Amino acid sequence: MLTRLEVRGFKNLLDTRAEFGPFTCIAGANGIGKSNVFDAIEFLSYLASDPLVEASQRVRGSAGMRGGGVRDLFWDGYRDHERRIDLAVEMLVPAEVEDDLGAAGRLSDLAGVRVEDLTVELNQVREVFTLVLRERGGPRLPARALSVGTLRFLALCVLLEDPGLTGLLCMEEPENGIHPANLPSVMQLVRDLAVDPSDAPDETNPFRQVIVNTHAPGVVQLCDPSDLPLAELAPHRTAEGNSVRARTLLPFRDSWRTQSASRSFSEADVLSYLTAPIGAQLQLPMVLAG
Ligand SMILES: Nc1ncnc2c1ncn2[C@@H]1O[C@H](COP(=O)(O)OP(=O)(O)OP(=O)(O)O)[C@@H](O)[C@H]1O
Ligand SMILES: [Mg+2]
Repeated sequence: MLTRLEVRGFKNLLDTRAEFGPFTCIAGANGIGKSNVFDAIEFLSYLASDPLVEASQRVRGSAGMRGGGVRDLFWDGYRDHERRIDLAVEMLVPAEVEDDLGAAGRLSDLAGVRVEDLTVELNQVREVFTLVLRERGGPRLPARALSVGTLRFLALCVLLEDPGLTGLLCMEEPENGIHPANLPSVMQLVRDLAVDPSDAPDETNPFRQVIVNTHAPGVVQLCDPSDLPLAELAPHRTAEGNSVRARTLLPFRDSWRTQSASRSFSEADVLSYLTAPIGAQLQLPMVLAG
């Protein structure tokens, strides 16, 4: 489990530090650097097995580009600055590691999806496995006929039932493809994927950590504020003495994540996630005629 991450000079993460627990949801505006945090974590994981050049080419934004690679990963905010990336992590690792594969799938009650059962069938001729869902009182549907939201939910259910799947899961925008009424179920499922730190990790409590990112008010409202670092801009002085605005991950004030961070955020900083936008029509007309 990744408990602390420090990134300096990677993409737009000039000086970013954050504490992580079993579950974290990074909230923030478009382009602020939420996905770049995932890229930095992914880069580190590639570096564990690949040489620097190969590892950097696998990271989003540099892969597949001629001449792309490490150079594209350096912070490119202003001219004549030091090109240097510092990455530091603190981790908790289990004393023993098991690698069993779980089999069962959890079916849950997504509003609008009436699941009778779920099977995996082998097509002998084409030699492919197909996931087949039978709807209550309805047809048997292969995965390709299922809705995007159903498939996303099912993918999370499968992850949940696999005790062999441990380690860190980074997930972009869990709200995508999900109807607002089903957001609480999805967020519960995402949280359930993370290890329960009050119990020892085992088959029923796999040592799994989850970090998601979002800019959806619905997701922010469903998260415990202490699970919610806010991606923001903050004043920063570079090694060359320049004053710039650097991306930072602010913890919620007085939460356990504030211990090693100097700044934090409060409700006032996330008002746009908690209130309706100007001009929003919250009520349908009560009187339609007469
Ligand atoms: N090498 C670099 N140097 C400086 N900034 C960079 C570099 N590479 C990418 N960026 C910045 O990172 C931004 C993209 O950040 P990222 O993809 O993390 O955004 P995000 O917070 O995930 O946004 P969204 O919510 O829209 O997905 C780019 O718009 C660019 O400004
Ligand atoms: Mg993103």
